[in-house]
Formats: sequence, structure tokens, C-alpha cells
Amino acid sequence: MEVVPGRGARACECLTSSIRQYLLGRIPERFAGCSLAAFEPDARRHPMQAEILTALRADPGANYFLSGSFGTGKTQFLWMLYRQAVEGRERHPVAYTLIGLLNEYRSAFDNADRRMDPARPKLTADVLRNSSTKYAVFLDDIDKARPTEYVAEQVFDLLDAIYAHGHQLVVTTNLPAVELIDHFERADERYGGAIVRRLLTNSTKFEMF
Ligand SMILES: Nc1ncnc2c1ncn2[C@@H]1O[C@H](COP(=O)(O)OP(=O)(O)O)[C@@H](O)[C@H]1O
Ligand SMILES: [Mg+2]
Repeated sequence: MEVVPGRGARACECLTSSIRQYLLGRIPERFAGCSLAAFEPDARRHPMQAEILTALRADPGANYFLSGSFGTGKTQFLWMLYRQAVEGRERHPVAYTLIGLLNEYRSAFDNADRRMDPARPKLTADVLRNSSTKYAVFLDDIDKARPTEYVAEQVFDLLDAIYAHGHQLVVTTNLPAVELIDHFERADERYGGAIVRRLLTNSTKFEMF
């Protein structure tokens, strides 16, 4: 086989660029033009926006728990961190709403006759436990799925894998941390505290109420 110096490197760069385009394409339209570098805080949306922006710019690869009322900019911050993760290229970024993730699990089960189709969900606790690549996991609206025992179990398992394997985690919620404990305890008393501990340990918490 003829070896052409440089070809491999070019092919690899081209692949990297198409993966990057694909990952950036996952950003919802309304946040597509936003970046941490260009964002201008708006105190009318929430007085803490400026402080949060400074923290996120200083350490975009850290774990964040962003809670607060509607319209304070939580989802916007989440997607700007996602963009930063894509551009930083150090971690594999995956972003979901909790409902979207659970829907993906459900369709994987439906398609595989109640057995999980391994090709389907891209983000599972097993994937995170077995990956040699570090992930950056973005979970929007972690309180929005109805808290059944199944939901609490899936959320716990995922967060446990993220926590144990040092993946990045950014979550948003409309509930303060204490209410999030009650939310998941409603499903199963074993999970409320355990879930919220994994959300808050090694994480910076911002509450915008
Ligand atoms: N500083 C800002 N400048 C311009 N638009 C903003 C700003 N902060 C938030 N927004 C916009 O306000 C809307 C609500 O923000 P969003 O992040 O969806 O709120 P939340 O997730 O907290 O409910 C979005 O359209 C978002 O782009
Ligand atoms: Mg939101």
C-alpha cells in the first residue's frame, strides 16, 4: 500500500470538522447564534446573569446546577456551555431534556420488543461507565418528567455513572434543590436525596428565583 504523508491527518481533520458541524447542528434554532463569549447579561431577566456568565466563562468544563424560575436564562446558559464543549473538543458533548432522553429509552425498548436496542440510546449509564472518552452531559429540565419509580431509577443510574466516572454534568431545573429532593422522593423514597447529592457534589449551584 502506498503511504502518502499527510493524507491521514487531512482525512482526520475533515472528519473532526463534520462531527463538529453535526454537534453544533443539535443546538436549537433559538440558541444557535449564542456563545459565552458574545452573551450580554440582562438583569431584567435575572440579576444573577452577570455573575453566572463570569463563572461559566472562567470554568466552562465544570459541573453546574442551574435552577430558577421560567425565563431566567437557564436553558440559554446550558446551550452556550454545550457549544463551548463542542469547541473545546476535550469531551464528547450530549444534550437532552430529561423527557427527550426518556422518550429515546422508550423507543429503544419498543423497537427491540422490550429489550433495549444497544444501537439506539446514545446516552445511558452503561455507555458512561464503559467509555474511555469523557462526556459532557447536559440535561435540561430535570424536574419535568413525571416522577415514577422508573424515572427516578433511570435518573439515579445515569447520575451515578456521571459522578463515578468524572464526566461533566450541567443540569437545569425550575425547582430549588430541596424541592427536587421531594420531587424524586414522591416516586421512591430511596432516590430523592441520592439523586440531588449527585447533582450537587463537585458542582456549582446557582438559584435564580
Ligand atoms: N441576556 C439575555 N439576552 C437576550 N436574550 C436572553 C437573555 N437571557 C435569556 N434570554 C432569552 O430569554 C428566553 C428565555 O430564556 P431560557 O434560557 O429559555 O429560560 P429558562 O430556561 O430559564 O426558562 C430565551 O429566548 C433566551 O434566549
Ligand atoms: Mg429552560
